[in-house]
Amino acid sequence: MKESFSQRSRIYHEALPKLLSLIDGEWDPVLRMASFSSLLFHACEWVSWCGFYRREGRELVVGPYVGKPACVRIPFNRGVCGDAASRGKPCIVSDVHAFDEHIACDPESRSELVIPVFGLDGEIEGVLDLDSMELAAFSAEDAAVLTQWIETVFPRGGVAIRK
Ligand code: SME
Repeated sequence: MKESFSQRSRIYHEALPKLLSLIDGEWDPVLRMASFSSLLFHACEWVSWCGFYRREGRELVVGPYVGKPACVRIPFNRGVCGDAASRGKPCIVSDVHAFDEHIACDPESRSELVIPVFGLDGEIEGVLDLDSMELAAFSAEDAAVLTQWIETVFPRGGVAIRK
């Protein structure tokens, strides 16, 4: 049975301090992305893939992630990742099969949430991508919580994830 958002909120609330303690004093963005992905993946059983794509010119290139092997390069304006990156806003897809632009790395994936990561100048540095095997696994509330996580772990001007 799907948990309520308040149950989910508690899971997020308990997981963030663990992540912050894991990366305390560590400023290497790869270390931060790897820890973020692993912690979120293992805390959230509705997540089947969790990781980062980093902007490299006109492409998004896969960074640290947890889950099945994924597409390594995505054109900047393609897919769910490209939609969030090019609009600079989270993209929540309740049913990936109904989203024409979806790039299927795992045929079992059913829904997806992608959140942009910004640099100091407001440029997109990359995205956080979450997949789920459940339909409609993500809401605007998940996007809001994880946007705050990103702003905490990758402060603009503090930790740049772009290569
Ligand atoms: N589905 C994504 C591609 C990346 S994977 O989900 C890991 C997209 O449409 O951009």
